[in-house]
Amino acid sequence: MKPYVLLNSAMTVDGKIATENSSMKISCKKDLIRVHHLRKEFDAIMVGINTVLIDNPKLTIHKIEANKEENPVRIIVDSKARTPLDSLVLNNDAKTIILVSNEAPQENIDKLEKKSTVIVCGDNHVNLKEALNKLYDMGISSILLEGGSTLNFSMFKEELIDEISICIGSKILGGKKSKTFVDGEGFKQDECVKLELKGIEKIDEDVVLNYKVIYDH
Ligand SMILES: NC(=O)c1ccc[n+]([C@@H]2O[C@H](COP(=O)([O-])OP(=O)(O)OC[C@H]3O[C@@H](n4cnc5c(N)ncnc54)[C@H](OP(=O)(O)O)[C@@H]3O)[C@@H](O)[C@H]2O)c1
Repeated sequence: MKPYVLLNSAMTVDGKIATENSSMKISCKKDLIRVHHLRKEFDAIMVGINTVLIDNPKLTIHKIEANKEENPVRIIVDSKARTPLDSLVLNNDAKTIILVSNEAPQENIDKLEKKSTVIVCGDNHVNLKEALNKLYDMGISSILLEGGSTLNFSMFKEELIDEISICIGSKILGGKKSKTFVDGEGFKQDECVKLELKGIEKIDEDVVLNYKVIYDH
């Protein structure tokens, strides 16, 4: 069994979620509030290590009123246990789980374990299927996946995403090096992920699209 996974993201009209080395505000203020309401509904929020290194996000509910106890568990996918000890995801506002692989130096794991729970699964990269099974067994039955592009691709490839909520900000970024909603190695034409449109919502100048992910099995 695995937790239910909703991928939430914000992209420009041309599909970019960030510039090459930095994040940017893509969606409007009201959409950010929507995301924080969404966070309240999930047991955990998951991101890849690059998102932590580039954005240093808190991954808590702080744009709307909430008690500390309502913060979801923060999950970082970080094969080599590179999460900086002073990163905001390791503050006391919520519990944090770091998923690492056998590549992670024990010294880094020991340091991270003082501030978080570290789970080892996978050889080179984190084995996402195995990790999600373990998280489910620990009582995490829903995950809000919040990027970035590389983790989004792997999560689709492993068929672990159930639903998508994507906010399209009224902006264009352009550039080959900007990150897109889903990067990684990409799918072949006949393997592309199929979606069923479930809803369209206009929020100020932005649009939020909701999809169910369809797997052929
Ligand atoms: N607009 C938005 O909604 C939004 C949301 C989130 C992030 N972002 C942006 O996205 C950018 C970061 O995206 P990114 O693609 O560079 O990185 P990412 O997806 O945040 O992290 C990817 C890293 O996760 C680690 N990882 C471990 N196991 C993995 C696995 N099985 N599959 C995939 N990744 C695995 C890998 O590093 P190791 O091998 O070192 O473990 C990999 O390089 C940032 O610029 C951020 O601002 C935008």
